[in-house]
Amino acid sequence: MNKTLLLQIKALLDEDDKLAALCNTTAFLYENIKDINWIGFYFLKGEELVLGPFQGKIACTHLRLDRGVCAFAYRQKQLIVVNNVHDFKTHIACDAATNSELVVPLIINKEVVGVLDIDSPLLGRFNKDDEQLFEAIGKLISVRLSYK
Ligand code: SME
Repeated sequence: MNKTLLLQIKALLDEDDKLAALCNTTAFLYENIKDINWIGFYFLKGEELVLGPFQGKIACTHLRLDRGVCAFAYRQKQLIVVNNVHDFKTHIACDAATNSELVVPLIINKEVVGVLDIDSPLLGRFNKDDEQLFEAIGKLISVRLSYK
């Protein structure tokens, strides 16, 4: 696990303004995680997931809860890795370059409040180490989201 990276994220999240903290977190991850073409947040608003801070090409702004990888991670309440998004029936393609995807749910008091979505142009980009890393990153972000 990349402890330095986690400490850097922790420092970025230690910012009074939540939105500013999330913006810098996506920028930092976009620069420091290899072979990704998009990273960003979707937050639960009513009956859909709505786009939050991100880095990469412009993306779908509203996601239904019954379609796509983000919604699947939301419903499962667990980290999802899709090695080939073209094999995932309801995958929503925002950037045609994307071939694999990892989504980590952000959970506060057992409720999913949103997801962090990471896309890669490589097939099978995300391995077990990445899963562990993004689980840890998701936890840090969830803690930050849990207060003002
Ligand atoms: N691929 C996602 C949609 C979000 S974009 O990748 C930024 C999905 O299937 O839920």
